[in-house]
Amino acid sequence: MSIHREGRAKPRGLDLPLLPTLLTLSMATLLLPVLGTSKQDIPRLRLTYKDLLLSNSCIPFLGSSEGLDFQTLLLDEERGKLLLGAKDHVFLLSLVDLNKNFKKIHWPAAKERVELCKLAGKDANTECANFIRVLQPYNKTHVYVCGTGAFHPMCGYIDLGLYKEEVTFKLDTHTLESGRLKCPFDPQQAFASVMTDEYLYSGTASDFLGKDTAFTRSLGPTHDHHYIRTDISEHYWLSGAKFIGTFPIPDTYNPDDDKIYFFFRESSQEGSTSDKAILSRVGRVCKNDGGGQRSLINKWTTFLKARLTCSIPGRDGADTHFDELQDIYLLPTRDERNPVVYGVFTTSSSIFKGSAVCVYSMADIRAVFNGPYAHKESADHRWVQYEGRIPYPRPGTCPSRTYDPLIKSTRDFPDDVISFIRRHPVMYKAVYPASGGPTFKRINVDYRLTQIVVDHVVAEDGQYDVMFLGTDVGTVLKVVSISKEKWGVEEVVLEELQVFKHSSTILTMELSLKQQQLYIGSRDGLVQLSLHRCDTYGKACADCCLARDPYCAWDGNACSRYAPTSKRRARRQDVKYGDPVTQCWDVEDSEYTRLLTFSSHLR
Ligand SMILES: *[C@@H]1O[C@H](CO)[C@@H](O)[C@H](O)[C@H]1NC(C)=O
Repeated sequence: MSIHREGRAKPRGLDLPLLPTLLTLSMATLLLPVLGTSKQDIPRLRLTYKDLLLSNSCIPFLGSSEGLDFQTLLLDEERGKLLLGAKDHVFLLSLVDLNKNFKKIHWPAAKERVELCKLAGKDANTECANFIRVLQPYNKTHVYVCGTGAFHPMCGYIDLGLYKEEVTFKLDTHTLESGRLKCPFDPQQAFASVMTDEYLYSGTASDFLGKDTAFTRSLGPTHDHHYIRTDISEHYWLSGAKFIGTFPIPDTYNPDDDKIYFFFRESSQEGSTSDKAILSRVGRVCKNDGGGQRSLINKWTTFLKARLTCSIPGRDGADTHFDELQDIYLLPTRDERNPVVYGVFTTSSSIFKGSAVCVYSMADIRAVFNGPYAHKESADHRWVQYEGRIPYPRPGTCPSRTYDPLIKSTRDFPDDVISFIRRHPVMYKAVYPASGGPTFKRINVDYRLTQIVVDHVVAEDGQYDVMFLGTDVGTVLKVVSISKEKWGVEEVVLEELQVFKHSSTILTMELSLKQQQLYIGSRDGLVQLSLHRCDTYGKACADCCLARDPYCAWDGNACSRYAPTSKRRARRQDVKYGDPVTQCWDVEDSEYTRLLTFSSHLR
């Protein structure tokens, strides 16, 4: 196997002419400055597609095929299954081995729809088919599925059976229904959905042309077929929105306060007076929003949105903006109200190509929603801070008997609350990253970041958040953020992995903690990728420590997966400093022995 080790920080003490003068210092301080200057941007391990297959830590799904568009995944850890939505097909795969006894449902678009789609000038292969965009768990037995149906979206239920019994896998063709306002028409259009309490929340375009975009709620246990949606008459609400992710997040201990947060980008409504054409946003609605009584009937009455910024402060206020949100990942914490929000952004600049990861706290997001509203006097005016009277209850608050017995539902909101929220759905302040700027960035490289998942890893010397970043060239970067007392945060690119044979955009990634695997979809294929391949770092203690991979530690024989619960054995790892000297000083290991022999020789 040819593993490229370009840029790996080797214990370079041996090449150093300075060595003799430094020998009086401890070995640890000797190596530190050397490693500190190592180029962080270069991955410590770079594996080609062939290397990865040989390492047995990446398995391609054999049902993969060109243009099948593997963009919708649903992880079912309980059943040990992965549902995969593609062009005209839904697959049921085993999480352990994608290729073992997989099942599939063939669900093409209706023939007449395909013909109409082609007549409308759409592409027969890449547009006029049934591209699956929604796979959401509905109840204990059924999954809700929607496809674009050749620009005529349709939805239905897939029966999986009860989880302890053998899995059935059948689409109920008798209960198919329209997918409008639940699923995009266009297979390529950015889209987000989530199912909770049998309600489906979707951010999507609602028409053939993709002009009208909406955030909607549909289905529900009573199946009353009432949609709640964003108001269409007020262009302040959404403007050509591209939805990226949506998540139910409780705000307080009171379930009446539960909200749905959604992340999107949209065109700026400032028109020509604005410097930014695209803005990224976080929006939210109350779960118990039932619409208004006299106006905003079947429309959200609790809809608010705020700007999400990700930029590098520059001299003279000339900041470098990463404006276009591409993906969102919520890293769970012990407190379900406060997941850590990771966003991947790209620049809309024509001058340079760049991507960045910015990290936000829910506390900061809530503070912006609790802050001042923005106000626009007329289309010709700019947004300014609203300074007038704010009606009661504060617009954006969820109705709750606990707070006010007279306001049991959104239909009890006074008229001034409804008319206020119509005109003031935007918050005045923006949400900034918790650390002030990007946590990770790639500038002037010939690829862009498209996807992110994050794993919280317990390592030998502490706890680390490891990011897996998908790119538009079919690679995955594995990056660890390391907080240091003195130097702030260091980002180390551990691995750069070519997970697809051909360069293609990574469209989706799902993380299974139980399997320690990532499932990664692109236009032409699906692969499962192990979170770690410790043995590729080599057998030596020093190699293992230099790798700084929190998943791995030296176990006395080899570099292997570190398990915090396993019996206490002398495991060696130094993620923080990557210093083998403090870890491997007593180990008969080639690299270090050579170093020692060399230094004693000098003495
Ligand atoms: C789940 O929903 C489907 C579709 O509405 C229904 O047929 C099925 O009986 C439900 N299953 C359970 C366990 O409630």
